[in-house]
Amino acid sequence: MSEFKNERGSWGSRIGFLLAAAGSAIGLGNVWKFPYLCGEYGGAAFIVTYIIILVLVGFTIMLTELMIGRHSQKGPVGAYRAIKERWAWVGAIGILASYLILTYYSVIGGWIIKYIVSGITGNFNTTDVDALGGIFATFIGQPFEPLVYHAIFMILTLVIVMGGIQGGIEKASKIMMPALFVILFIVVIRAVTLPGASIGLEYMLKPDWSKFGLDVVVAALVQVFFSLSLGMGVIITYGSYLGKDEKLTTSAVQIPLMDSAAALLSAFAVLPAVFALGYNPSAGPGLLFITLPGVFAKMPMGSLFGVLFFIFVLFAALTSSISLLEAAVTYFVDEHKWQRKKAVIILGLVAFLIGVPSSLANGAFGDVTFINGMNFFDSMSFFAENILLPLSAFLLSIFVAWVWGTENAIKEATNNGTVNFGFSKVWIISIKYIAPIGIGFILLQSIMSLF
Ligand code: PHE
Repeated sequence: MSEFKNERGSWGSRIGFLLAAAGSAIGLGNVWKFPYLCGEYGGAAFIVTYIIILVLVGFTIMLTELMIGRHSQKGPVGAYRAIKERWAWVGAIGILASYLILTYYSVIGGWIIKYIVSGITGNFNTTDVDALGGIFATFIGQPFEPLVYHAIFMILTLVIVMGGIQGGIEKASKIMMPALFVILFIVVIRAVTLPGASIGLEYMLKPDWSKFGLDVVVAALVQVFFSLSLGMGVIITYGSYLGKDEKLTTSAVQIPLMDSAAALLSAFAVLPAVFALGYNPSAGPGLLFITLPGVFAKMPMGSLFGVLFFIFVLFAALTSSISLLEAAVTYFVDEHKWQRKKAVIILGLVAFLIGVPSSLANGAFGDVTFINGMNFFDSMSFFAENILLPLSAFLLSIFVAWVWGTENAIKEATNNGTVNFGFSKVWIISIKYIAPIGIGFILLQSIMSLF
């Protein structure tokens, strides 16, 4: 990839971009949510549904976001504006979504740092899930300690983003992503070779369709978007730092492939061990923080694997949080000509502060409800992920299909007709019909659940 320099910066190499984009995609969604969704929704049945939606819609939106970002060389607001002035506000919806996600993502990121510390100091030597549940609930219910960890996670994020696209995000991703895959492989091998792991493996490979229903489809679609960092301006932002000779279609396939590989490997690291050691696979969100420490406590050399595992989760979370912050930073740098450093510090500080009530919502502040009887944390995540995210992805598909036009979009994807785009017909059908109908349906579901 040729380097083209300007004050915004750009990716230094193709592999650097790919690792950063995959780093954004691979995060808590893969490591924490995907395994528990598999556990809840019938193992292989969920995986098959997820893959179908990924191919039909995920790939399409990934490519489309890369197209409009690279086309304008601007963050989301500028990207829409460059094509049609009146649509600029749609870009802001995505940025708002990613920024709000950052505020509570960092709270969970803090929990992970706490678990690394506890693992090293040998605090998890019990296999009793009730005791572990108690440890977790006590920790997140305290007012002060989780805030300290939330601050540490946010500072790590700021320091990386401060370094800019090449010197910060790309460099950090080039170190953390390979390390992440190595650690993940080690833990998977340990997990699948435990005596009794085969029941878990069978669960992951043999679909149990009795659990299949509309709720599975909805959960899978939201998960595809969240996991691929779509609908949040992040991929548009990362795409805007790409050179004009980059082959977008290749990246739009490679990023989802790496993301799915990480999700599947995480599920293979978690579920067989959970089965082998006799825990309940449908433990839900507590699987990562309650069940897994029990799994590690029972395993030979478990504390080593436990610490390794949580370091892997931290890397995954950091390469995602930097992308969440970068979308907003790029906006202020592009549109308001702020200096990167100023944007990073102000946005980071504000995100930390908005995260405070989310952190407190697991304790004393938990009784105060906002949307539909949900506490602050859950309300934020519902608003960002179930409303803003599908809204922005829905408007994106309408915009590209009917306002920008598929012909113009394909020109961008083929670098003005110089490279081929084998799936172009499938992409057109998906962006015009399948994506807006599918995403619109999810949006409607979310809105209706409010009444
Ligand atoms: N994709 C990330 C994950 O799976 C989360 C994320 C969402 C990151 C949106 C950036 C933008 O955890």
